[in-house]
Amino acid sequence: MSVIKADVGGYVGHSSIHMDLYDAAREMLEISKQKGEIIDYHVTHCGDDLELIMTHQKGIENSEIHGLAWDTFVMCTNIAKKLKLYGAGQDLLKDSFSGTVKGMGPGFAEMEFEERRSEPVIIFMADKTSPGAWNLPLYKIFADPFNTAGLVIDPAMHEGFVFEVLDIRKNRKILLSTPEEIYDLLMFIGATGQFVLKNVHRKDGLQAAVASTQKLSLIAGKYVGKDDPVMIVRCQSGLPAVGEVLEPFAFPHLVEGWMRGSHNGPLMPVATREANPSRFDGPPRVIAAGFQIAEGRLIGARDLFDDPAFDEARKKANQVADYMRRHGPFEPHRLGLEEMEYTTMPLIMKRLEERFFVSEENVLVESKA
Ligand code: F6R
Ligand code: MG
Ligand code: MG
Repeated sequence: MSVIKADVGGYVGHSSIHMDLYDAAREMLEISKQKGEIIDYHVTHCGDDLELIMTHQKGIENSEIHGLAWDTFVMCTNIAKKLKLYGAGQDLLKDSFSGTVKGMGPGFAEMEFEERRSEPVIIFMADKTSPGAWNLPLYKIFADPFNTAGLVIDPAMHEGFVFEVLDIRKNRKILLSTPEEIYDLLMFIGATGQFVLKNVHRKDGLQAAVASTQKLSLIAGKYVGKDDPVMIVRCQSGLPAVGEVLEPFAFPHLVEGWMRGSHNGPLMPVATREANPSRFDGPPRVIAAGFQIAEGRLIGARDLFDDPAFDEARKKANQVADYMRRHGPFEPHRLGLEEMEYTTMPLIMKRLEERFFVSEENVLVESKA
């Protein structure tokens, strides 16, 4: 299963995507399905991100599948350019395709698995945020018994899960096992700007989840829009139930992103029709598309946050948005300095560097006695 996404042009501004891109992407993937290159597909959007969900038998990081996604994004970019949509082609950082979309701008999450007797899967897609946004929900889904009753009740889950944590600044990763190592795990993944969860396996090896971890600013070396991550989670029968997987999103936790990718704000769970962030280019949104997979066919999507049970989360997100907005350009609404490194902050520092003079306000004074 491959979920590959890119922002190839916003409508209007960065708030949503235009129907013509949707239709073009569907047409392209339909041809591919008819030719037997992919088994099935589903095209959707979250905010200004075009999301391609595909099933096939070619494995992960396959050049034909990534090539198909790339060609689809290029074609949609051409349409976006004709309509002068905003930021047309913004996530395509390279001119030509080479092997996979890795390091080229689009984000992706892929998982190879043998279909179980019944295979319920949820694809989470977010806009106006970045990969660390999944850390908290993934922890709750797979390691918190107050969220997931199955960790206590279901013998198949009782042993716990193994988390792969990526250190995106040092380009290295570590496997941590729960419940034994939850305190170590939390020390890292609580720092969402540096440590990002990549995937989760059950201890018998079965893969349960995978997330996209591409950071555009790290790839491009400057601010080029947010990464707007996606994630695939398999559910039920010895894995967390659909309801346990959705449950963490009833709390709209703070994530980085929002306006200019430079602010913390609440992640609001919404139906796809409401995934069009407009207020201060946000607040950040997440949608959940549920599928039953049948011989590779995608039966769905069920729009899982289209449920009044998430109304309170949305209300809370609006209250938190109000509260955070009142801070204006101050932290912790605005991101910390380290994250601002990829914006105009270094330029301002450079310009004002020579106007700084030495201050001894906080220097340890040697005792004179
Ligand atoms: C956030 C985002 C927007 C833009 C903002 C300014 O991910 O994409 O908040 O950063 O609308 O956009 P420009 O600089 O293109 O005018
Ligand atoms: Mg955009
Ligand atoms: Mg986006």
